Amino acid sequence: MILYSAVQQISKHIMIFLFLSITLNIVLVSGSSLSDKVNQTPAHMCNNPGQTAKISCSHSIQNYDQILWYKQTKNRQLQLLGYMLANAGYPETGQNVSMGGSADKDKTSTLTIEGLSLNSSGVYFCAARAQCDTGREAYFGKGAKLTVLEPDHDVTPPTVQVFKPSEKECKVKTLVCVASGFYPDHVSVSWEVDGVTETDSVATDNTALREGKHYSLSSRLTVQSKTWFKPSRTFTCRVSFFNGTDTIDVEDSITGETDSGGMPNDTKMKIMQNAKLTYSVLIAKSFIYGVFIMFLVWKLKGLSGKQSSRERSCGLNN
Ligand SMILES: *[C@@H]1O[C@H](CO)[C@@H](O)[C@H](O)[C@H]1NC(C)=O
Repeated sequence: MILYSAVQQISKHIMIFLFLSITLNIVLVSGSSLSDKVNQTPAHMCNNPGQTAKISCSHSIQNYDQILWYKQTKNRQLQLLGYMLANAGYPETGQNVSMGGSADKDKTSTLTIEGLSLNSSGVYFCAARAQCDTGREAYFGKGAKLTVLEPDHDVTPPTVQVFKPSEKECKVKTLVCVASGFYPDHVSVSWEVDGVTETDSVATDNTALREGKHYSLSSRLTVQSKTWFKPSRTFTCRVSFFNGTDTIDVEDSITGETDSGGMPNDTKMKIMQNAKLTYSVLIAKSFIYGVFIMFLVWKLKGLSGKQSSRERSCGLNN
């Protein structure tokens, strides 16, 4: 009997996990706004080892009474930390967490992570769900990114630089923004063209690259070449960096260029030089040809002259 209920309990957990994993994937992939119904704060946290972190979660969904807590690890796997059912918390064993508050509509449930270690870093998600109506969707919060600061690593904001597009690009132009030298990796990138935020045609690296004690990240903005070829236009890359207490914006801008006939100046120069060379070769060729013809004519004249004189002498001999 005990064994049976244990098996039932475990399979229930597995079912919940599978169901939520699939739902989370759908929500994350489609970028659904369903998670607006679940409010998770704060979005960013930087703590020192040994400290305690607290994350709050609330939802506004009728009849939902369960909040589940997950940790997303580096390999993007979700790990269930426990759940809150109405006013009771059920942390998984072996997790250094506790849950408090309430999972009911418009109430706040809190996850407390104690004794932080470097392994505690990751993104924490809460999900709201109806305990008795498992057919209904689970809604996820937007996640809380926690970094447990490594010793001897100073919090450093990024250096930002925008690079102008390659001259080799014709129809579209790609501007590249590089944020580098920052720690920890709590950044988001946005682009503006003449002060208007661009959301389409922006591609930002999913994860920052670690180089020693610091991170770097790049983002690309693609525009039509006619957008780029306007010297009065300003292209701005803004990197928002969370330093543990505040979000600091660091930005860099470049202005558009004058369109040099759809061709960069040095390419034009090369084409001109090539044309000059081809022309010279043609002139030289026709000159050599002319000399050759003159030589042939002179040679033929000489031959016929000799021949006639020989004929004459032969005629005389005969
Ligand atoms: C974060 O930024 C704020 C505002 O610029 C500053 O006062 C604070 O000292 C910074 N914190 C760290 C850890 O650098």
